[in-house]
Amino acid sequence: MRLQTFARVGMISAFLFSMGCTEPSDSTHSPKQSELKVEHKKGVNQQATTQYQSKSSLSKEFVYISEAERKELVDLKKQPIIYKGSNYSKKVALTFDDGPDIDVTKKILKILREEHVSATFFVTGRMVKEYPEMLKQIYEEGHVIGNHTWSHPQLTKLSDQAIEKELQRTNQIVENEIGKKIHLFRPPYGATNLRVQKLIKEKGYYIINWSVDTNDWRGNSGTTIEGIVKKQVSNGGIILQHNAGNNLQGTVDALPKMISFLRKQNYQLVTVDQLLDVPPYKEPTQ
Ligand code: NI
Repeated sequence: MRLQTFARVGMISAFLFSMGCTEPSDSTHSPKQSELKVEHKKGVNQQATTQYQSKSSLSKEFVYISEAERKELVDLKKQPIIYKGSNYSKKVALTFDDGPDIDVTKKILKILREEHVSATFFVTGRMVKEYPEMLKQIYEEGHVIGNHTWSHPQLTKLSDQAIEKELQRTNQIVENEIGKKIHLFRPPYGATNLRVQKLIKEKGYYIINWSVDTNDWRGNSGTTIEGIVKKQVSNGGIILQHNAGNNLQGTVDALPKMISFLRKQNYQLVTVDQLLDVPPYKEPTQ
């Protein structure tokens, strides 16, 4: 879902920038190419000791994590908001927000099925209520479900109590449908402040934003979306797209081409939990 006016978009963009939402492309945090090669090679050579099955119970992907990557992830997971995985990680996570709907979601699931890709879907409770069967299908086809609130409000404008209700209602309906407690959370518009972050972290969630914004909801063509991904993707990238809303034909058109490009670049396509080396859902005791 989107903000209705450019004025508000501008305001939020400025806000997000001030929160450090955007990352400079020449970030000093990025390792040099030569370091990357060494680490990647090391990861492959050490498969016997670092190989393990994904914590995602449904994904068939095997994920290899080098020591450098594991170390970086420990620090990264302490951050209030996560924008991407490790710089040492030749992995990318596809994410889809605002669904499930009945139309775009079906088209996206079909492509992901044909391409054998698992993705992460940040759902709103109100859409789950509308299309519970689609939620089940997403889950049963091996994708991971995250919480994107019940009604897609800007959380910084809500009281603590109202925020808790937005999260709890969505958790409840998702748990009722698939029997899992959500672990990953994405705030609508990516908008948070220190109060919101603290509240959500205390509830045991990882706050997941993104490093590549396809702006697909603006009605971007498939070619435009593909171009954005090609230009902006980097190691550990989290790509933002949508699976509910108007004007998402570009999302559907771009998806097979994006997957093909990313694979040619040797990126492994993983779910967000795999990217961060965390369980996809909370343990039953939590
Ligand atoms: Ni959204």
